[in-house]
Amino acid sequence: LDKKLKSATALACANIALIKYWGKRDPILNLPAVGSISLTLDALQTKTRVIYNPELNQDLLTINNSEATDAQTKRVQKFLDIVRAKYGFREYATVISDNNFPTGAGLASSASAFAALSMAATCAAGQKMTKKDLSLLSRRGSGSAARSIYGGIVEMQTGEDPKGEKDYAIQLATPDYWGLRVLILITSAEEKKIGSTEAMNLSAETSPYYQQWVISAKSDLHEMKQAIQDKDFEKLGELSEFSALKMHALPLTSRPSVIYWNSGTLDLIEEVRILRQQGIPAYFTMDAGPQVKVITLSEYAGSLMNHFSHKKGIKRCIESKLGADVYLTGDDS
Ligand code: PMV
Repeated sequence: LDKKLKSATALACANIALIKYWGKRDPILNLPAVGSISLTLDALQTKTRVIYNPELNQDLLTINNSEATDAQTKRVQKFLDIVRAKYGFREYATVISDNNFPTGAGLASSASAFAALSMAATCAAGQKMTKKDLSLLSRRGSGSAARSIYGGIVEMQTGEDPKGEKDYAIQLATPDYWGLRVLILITSAEEKKIGSTEAMNLSAETSPYYQQWVISAKSDLHEMKQAIQDKDFEKLGELSEFSALKMHALPLTSRPSVIYWNSGTLDLIEEVRILRQQGIPAYFTMDAGPQVKVITLSEYAGSLMNHFSHKKGIKRCIESKLGADVYLTGDDS
C-alpha cells in the first residue's frame, strides 16, 4: 500500500441497552431525549479500516467484503463529512468494515459500526481523541454508538444543554466487575421494517405515551445504577424487562403502529418467564427488531445455551460476555 495514504483500523463491540434509549431531543446533533444504560457485547464486534486517499472523489464503503447499499454508504459519507468539517481536511476515504457475526442474521449493528468508524476515521486523520470525544462523535452516527466506546456496563448521559456537551457515555463498571452473560437469540434473519430514527420520530409525534416515557426515564436510570452497585441481579433483570416493554409500547402505540416482534419473540418472552418460575435467573430484552436477548449470570449461561439451541423457531444462539473499550488494532503499522 502507498505509504502516503493515511489509514487506521479500530475494533468496537456492539451493546444491548438494559435501560433503553428511544426518542431524540435534537435530530441534527442526534441528542437523545433520555439517558440509557447498556452492556457491551464481546461476541458482536465490528472492525473498521479507514484509508484516506487524495485521489478519491467520494467515500467508498464495503461491509463484509461486499459493496454497501446506497443508504449505508450515504450514512457513512454524512458521518465522514462531520469528521472532515471538524478537523478541516478534504480527503475522501475507503472504509472497509467487517463484522465477526453472521451477516443477514438481523444483527446489523450501527453501534459497533459507528464506534469503530469514529476511532479509525479520526486516528487516520492524525487526531488523538479522548474516549469522551469519541463518544460525542460516535453519537452523531448513531445514538447507541456513543455507548460502544466503552466496555463493561455503560451509561449514556444526557442533559438540557442544547449543544449536547453532556451527551456522551461513561463507563459504570469494567467487563470483569460482574459475571453477566447475554444470549442473543435470533428469531428472524430479516432486515428491520422501519429504522430506529424514523420510528422514534413517529413515536414522539403520535404516541400518547411519549411524554410520560421521557419523564419516567430518570427514575429507571437511578434504580438501575443502584442495582448495578448492589449487584442485585433480580432488580437488574426486572428493570430491564420493564424498560424494554415500556420502550416497545411507544412504537406499538404510534400511528401507524410499528410492531417489531414476531411470534417467536413472544414465545421467547413466555419461555424466559417460565424458566424464571423454575428458579433460573434469566430476563429478556429486545431492541428495534424481533431478536430476543436473554440476560443471565455466567454459571447459568451454558445450560441456557443448550436449552435454547434446541428450541423450534430459534435460528441461531450466540453467547456473549461483556466486551472491552474500542481500540486500535495496529493492523496498519
Ligand atoms: O442507536 P440507534 O439510533 O439505532 O437507536 C437504538 C435504539 C434501541 O436499540 C432500540 C435502544 C437502545 O438504547 O439501544
